[in-house]
This record gives sequence, structure tokens and C-alpha cells, in this order.
Amino acid sequence: MSTALSSKTDRYAAAKLILSRIAHPVAIIGAAHGGERSCATGTVMYVSHVPPMVAIAEHPGSRTTRLIQASREFSVSLLHDSQQELAVAAGKSGEGPDKFAALKIPVAEQSGFAAPGVAGSLAVMWCRVGEEHPTGDHILFVGEVIEALTDDRKIDALLRYRRRYMRMGHWTSEEAPEGYPT
Ligand SMILES: Cc1cc2nc3c(=O)[nH]c(=O)nc-3n(C[C@H](O)[C@H](O)[C@H](O)COP(=O)(O)O)c2cc1C
Repeated sequence: MSTALSSKTDRYAAAKLILSRIAHPVAIIGAAHGGERSCATGTVMYVSHVPPMVAIAEHPGSRTTRLIQASREFSVSLLHDSQQELAVAAGKSGEGPDKFAALKIPVAEQSGFAAPGVAGSLAVMWCRVGEEHPTGDHILFVGEVIEALTDDRKIDALLRYRRRYMRMGHWTSEEAPEGYPT
């Protein structure tokens, strides 16, 4: 079925209809600056293999955005399917200067970075901002991945698709020997 994307009745209609059909991993973006720490449930994709780079799109009104702009760094924690409650919590604003403490989100520290990661995730990466561009109602940050932590015992990623959280299914191919899928 083909649908014209009009926003006359609901300005989020296009997002609900089509952007929601992009299956995403659920990520928590972390940032810190000047004694403040925050995080936001968010969206991530990679945009370069060498050097490794990822892109995130952050709302200009969020505290996490402000802290990324001040510190020029951020963390990306890829959530395990046991961490849905953290995704829900980080998706709302928290009281006080430290959202990790306020919401009891367990912290993974990385030397050289103030940005906290989320402990217990299947992977955490720490990035330095290389580029920043306004994109519609968000700001796109491209970061180079400088440090990374992975937990190979944690296989099942938490996903989101069609405005719901989802659990992964099972492999449907062998691991690629090289190239894509990465
Ligand atoms: C599943 C999910 C995905 C989200 N993705 C994004 C996103 O990609 N960019 C964004 O700016 N906010 C996104 N949000 C909303 C932020 O997490 C939310 O605005 C958060 O309260 C920001 O917190 P802060 O003000 O402490 O930074 C998402 C929320 C959820 C629940």
C-alpha cells in the first residue's frame, strides 16, 4: 500500500508510518560535563568502518544534547534484552545533576572519558564528536569510536520496531567471513 506523507492532522504521522519500520538496536547515549551526567535512550548507526564512526541524532532540547555539545564526547551503550526497564527510564528526564544516580542506572566508566556508559550492556563505545549538523528537528552527531567494551556472553540485543520493544529471533545465516553484513 502506498501512502502520501501528509502532516496535516498529525505532525508525527510520517514517523509513525514509515520511520517506525526501521528496526533499530536500543541504545542509551551518555554524556557528562561540569559535574552533570545525563543519558537518553536513542538511535545509532555506523557510518564508517575505518576509522570506526557512528552517528546519533539528538533532540536539541535534551540535557544529553547540551552535555555532548559542551564535552564533545558521548558514550553509546547497546542494550541487552534484559535491560528494557533502563531504556524506558532513560527515555524520560531525571531530577538533579546526575541522571545515572537519580535513576539508579549502573555506570561503566572509561578512563579518558567523562561520559558514563551503562554497565551490563552487550557493548559500550566511547566516541569523540567529529561532526555536528542540524537535521530537521534533531542534531546529528558523528563520533569516532575511541574505546569499546563488549560482553560476548550477552547475545540477545534489545530491539525496537513498529513502536514497540522487541527481542531478537535466531540467526538465519552463517557469520559472514568478511565484508557485509558487518
Ligand atoms: C526507544 C526510544 C528512543 C529514543 N530515541 C531518541 C533519539 O534518537 N534522539 C533523541 O533525541 N531522543 C530520543 N528519545 C527520547 C530521549 O531518550 C528523551 O528525550 C530523554 O528524556 C532525554 O533525556 P535528557 O533530557 O536527560 O537528555 C528516545 C526515547 C525512547 C524511549
